[in-house]
Amino acid sequence: MPSLRSIVYVSSSVIPFSTSDLEDLLLKAKAFNSKHSITGALFYKDGNFIQCIEGPPAEMVLTYDRILKDKRHKGIIQLINLPIPFRAFKSWEMAFVRIGPNRSQELTNALSRTSPNATNKTHPSLVLMNSFISTL
Ligand SMILES: Cc1cc2nc3c(=O)[nH]c(=O)nc-3n(C[C@H](O)[C@H](O)[C@H](O)COP(=O)(O)O)c2cc1C
Repeated sequence: MPSLRSIVYVSSSVIPFSTSDLEDLLLKAKAFNSKHSITGALFYKDGNFIQCIEGPPAEMVLTYDRILKDKRHKGIIQLINLPIPFRAFKSWEMAFVRIGPNRSQELTNALSRTSPNATNKTHPSLVLMNSFISTL
């Protein structure tokens, strides 16, 4: 089985992202990700992002490099970068959830819908994202 890695990071947008800005970002991200066997999830709230990307190690380097170079966000802090036993977001080129005010419960629900393995509490990226998101 090919090896897999997962990165989770947080960042802040430099510009206020409109719905169409986010759609454009996602379109490009998904196109690249699908060609490079990358899956993941992106959450956006009040100018802040948390994203998980996962895939083969060499493709992860390429993808994360694209993310780092994007001038539309700053303050990128990597929280996790490690080998994983399986993908948390297997069927998602990049799932996206925009979080409104006071919607932490809905968000936790969205995360469990997004990931078929969300009930597996041992996946490090899912544990981290669940715990981070529950504080929003
Ligand atoms: C919050 C955020 C998440 C991103 N996620 C991805 C991603 O999952 N995959 C990807 O290839 N690029 C991702 N990017 C980078 C941009 O989508 C991409 O580099 C940008 O749209 C330029 O693409 P282009 O060089 O094809 O025009 C992300 C950028 C930001 C700000």
